[in-house]
Amino acid sequence: MGEETLSVTDNRTGRSYEMPIKDGAVRAMDFRQIKVHDDDFGLKLYDPAFTNTASCRSEITYIDGDRGILRYRGYPIEQLAAQSTYLETAYLILFGELPTRAQFVEWEHDITIHTYIHENAKKFMDGFLYDAHPMGMLVSTVAALSTFYPQSKEIFDEEDRLLHMKRLIAKMPTMAAFAYRHSSGLPYAYPDNDLSYTGNLLNMLYKFSEAKYQPDPVLERALDVLFILHADHEQNCSTNAMRCVGSSHGDPYSTIAAACAALYGPLHGGANEAVLKMLTEIASIENVPKFVDRVKDGEDLLMGFGHRVYKNFDPRASVIKELAHQVFEVTGRNPLLDIALELERIALEDEYFIERKLYPNVDFYSGIIYQSMGFPVSMFPVLFAIPRTVGWIAQWQEMLLDEEQKIARPRQIYVGHDQRDYISWDRRESRQGAVA
Ligand code: SDX
Repeated sequence: MGEETLSVTDNRTGRSYEMPIKDGAVRAMDFRQIKVHDDDFGLKLYDPAFTNTASCRSEITYIDGDRGILRYRGYPIEQLAAQSTYLETAYLILFGELPTRAQFVEWEHDITIHTYIHENAKKFMDGFLYDAHPMGMLVSTVAALSTFYPQSKEIFDEEDRLLHMKRLIAKMPTMAAFAYRHSSGLPYAYPDNDLSYTGNLLNMLYKFSEAKYQPDPVLERALDVLFILHADHEQNCSTNAMRCVGSSHGDPYSTIAAACAALYGPLHGGANEAVLKMLTEIASIENVPKFVDRVKDGEDLLMGFGHRVYKNFDPRASVIKELAHQVFEVTGRNPLLDIALELERIALEDEYFIERKLYPNVDFYSGIIYQSMGFPVSMFPVLFAIPRTVGWIAQWQEMLLDEEQKIARPRQIYVGHDQRDYISWDRRESRQGAVA
């Protein structure tokens, strides 16, 4: 193989340029030297939605979309799902190594003692409409936490930063559960620090009059595996929001609210909610072919299918599909699974989906499991945001400590009007084609 350089010739001038290739990329700034006139700005790279732009160098998560590979800090997702727990995986994602037993005991203790939220937080929870969407409540509440912790603005104080990262991991389940209880018209159930991370979430969601809530161990473990699968996913839309908003050096609570808001969209973390709505509307296996035709006619999206990176099976979808059977042994089989399996069968055989490399993604089966576990559809994006919190803060911290990073400020290609003069009122009405 030749030199690790790119040779570029600008045919406008005949001039040639050499640029170094490093880690499969060239620096966009190396194109700025390519000009026709010395006072030109130089060439920009145009990449709407950053489909082929690396915004950072990261050591956290590796994805190979063609081979369906996902690794956190080098560990395959399949091994972590089978052998780890969410809190252990969160430690790995944040600190880069699996914890020793002593490190894990301290880590679990530190998370557990921060599960409560300030009592005042309930006051603005109570202010939401009775049927407010829990994700809208979560986005608002996590942003509001920044007002309880002004010290969190000290983002370059390592001790302070770690304390608030632990608080965010610890308090997201509590805020999520309080949002669920509010939108269900139920009294808040407080954290039970004797329980595991997911056991405590189930407790805050479903505890009623019993003295002590006992989570079902199968459901508690299933939720833990689902949280492992959702913990990070390199530079997805919400993580990009976390890094972009965080690059202005605000506090982590306000920043993570932006990431939550990005996750809320139906093309991203809101997809599992959209999948359930889609399966419910299809309603029976007999209606699947008609729906698939609608998708192929461009009238609908097959929610839970497709991915910007995976052009093969999303490895998380495979694990979740397996997990579904364990959950259904406890909860009973979800009839929507049959519709989902038929949709998958048809899609994987149909040229339209094959040529577009559309496979089930993480959201295709997760919603069916969440529904079977008793979660309302509106809680699904919230159940995505809880585990993704550690991914967001790990990526945020990596951005803050990366000496190459600074405030995110993309360029544009201006295609609007050239300079024009102000028009007085009387002359406007008489103009032809005035925009209404
Ligand atoms: C997540 O980025 C991440 O890592 C995200 C995530 C994470 O862990 O953070 O993995 C979580 O967000 C998973 C994705 C959940 N979203 C959905 O399931 C919504 C449905 N999927 C699509 O909206 C879509 O597949 C995206 C948004 C996921 C990816 O879109 P891209 O990469 O921009 O692909 P595209 O829109 O350019 O599609 C290419 C072609 C198009 O057809 P043509 O215009 O070429 O004819 O495929 C078609 C699209 O119309 N297509 C679909 C489709 N997804 C893409 N057609 C039908 N149904 C779909 N779901």
